[in-house]
Parts: sequence; C-alpha cells; structure tokens
Amino acid sequence: MADTSVVARDMANLGIAPAKTHVADPTKRDFLKLIQLAGAAIGVGAIAWPFINSMNPSKDVLAVSSLEVDLTPIVVGQGITVLWRGKPIFVRHRTPKEIEEATSVTMAQLSDPATDASRTQPGEAQWIVLVGICTHLGCIPVGNKPTDARGEWGGWFCPCHGSQYDTSGRVRHGPAPANLAVPPYAFESPTKIKIG
Ligand code: FES
Repeated sequence: MADTSVVARDMANLGIAPAKTHVADPTKRDFLKLIQLAGAAIGVGAIAWPFINSMNPSKDVLAVSSLEVDLTPIVVGQGITVLWRGKPIFVRHRTPKEIEEATSVTMAQLSDPATDASRTQPGEAQWIVLVGICTHLGCIPVGNKPTDARGEWGGWFCPCHGSQYDTSGRVRHGPAPANLAVPPYAFESPTKIKIG
C-alpha cells in the first residue's frame, strides 16, 4: 500500500490539490428538512381546505335551522307548539302562579335538579320554551291548551306512560328520567324569540 504522506508530497510537487472530503453541515441539513416539511404541510392544507369548507352548512341550511316565533298571540296561561328542526317546541306564557310554583321548588324535590332560573331567560320568567318530547320514550306530552290534562304539577302530562312535568318542564312523576330539554333560543325583541 502506498504511503499516504509520500502520495501527498508527490501531489503537492505536481501542483495537485488534495480532494476535499464533503462533510454535511447538520444545521443546514435540518433547516432544509424543515423547509420541505413546511411545504408539504401547506400543500396538504391547500388540498384539505376546500373539502373542510364544503362541510360548513350553507346559508339556506342555516336559515332553516333557526325559527322566529312571534309571542304576541300567546295569552297568559296558554302555550303553543311550533316545529323546529322536525321537533315540537312548546312555548308557554306562564301565569304568576305558575312562575311561583316553578321557583319555589327545592332541588331536593326534583329527580333531575335544575332551578327555574337556569331554564328561562333573565327577566323573562313568564316565558318557558321546551323541546316537547318526553324523555322516557319520545311521546309528545300534552298541556299547552287550557283543556289539556296538565298533571298534578300543572305543567305537561305524557299520555303514553303517565310522566308528569311541572311548569318549568321538570319531570316530577313517572318513568321519564330527565326534564324536558330547553332548546337554544334568544329574545330578538320583547315579543319575538329566535330558536336555534
Ligand atoms: S314516553 Fe312519556 S312517559 Fe313514556
């Protein structure tokens, strides 16, 4: 084997520079990898965004998903049923007596404890808005008309298996395991609510 020092000396005499050994700069290499990854991420994002955006509901769907209800025709002591997203919604104009009954209940008396205030809008205790589907097996309770059976607690009565709800829509008797649900809604004016 040739002595490397002799070879180096001969190459120097001939004016040949030794070949440089390439050593990768780890910092530079990592930086290049980062640029590649960032580019890939931007590419995936550009492809995915139109797909994700297409999953947002259209304006038409959003309009159907909310419902405005004029409260003016609902006299004190009566309720109406409107349809929202295929579900019956009870809107009742409660009497002072019904409000008093709803607010004077202690949580210990309820199988699904909830205050009346948590189920009504601030300053609007005369209005109760509920999803009119019994939480037992999904029947529609009665009680919006003055002639309807309202049960012992004066709210709504489910004719299917006898569950009874109070004037806040809280279950007070029967197999129903939970209170009538309160849908999302807001007052747009003192006489108009928007459900959804
Ligand atoms: S569905 Fe109402 S009590 Fe059974």
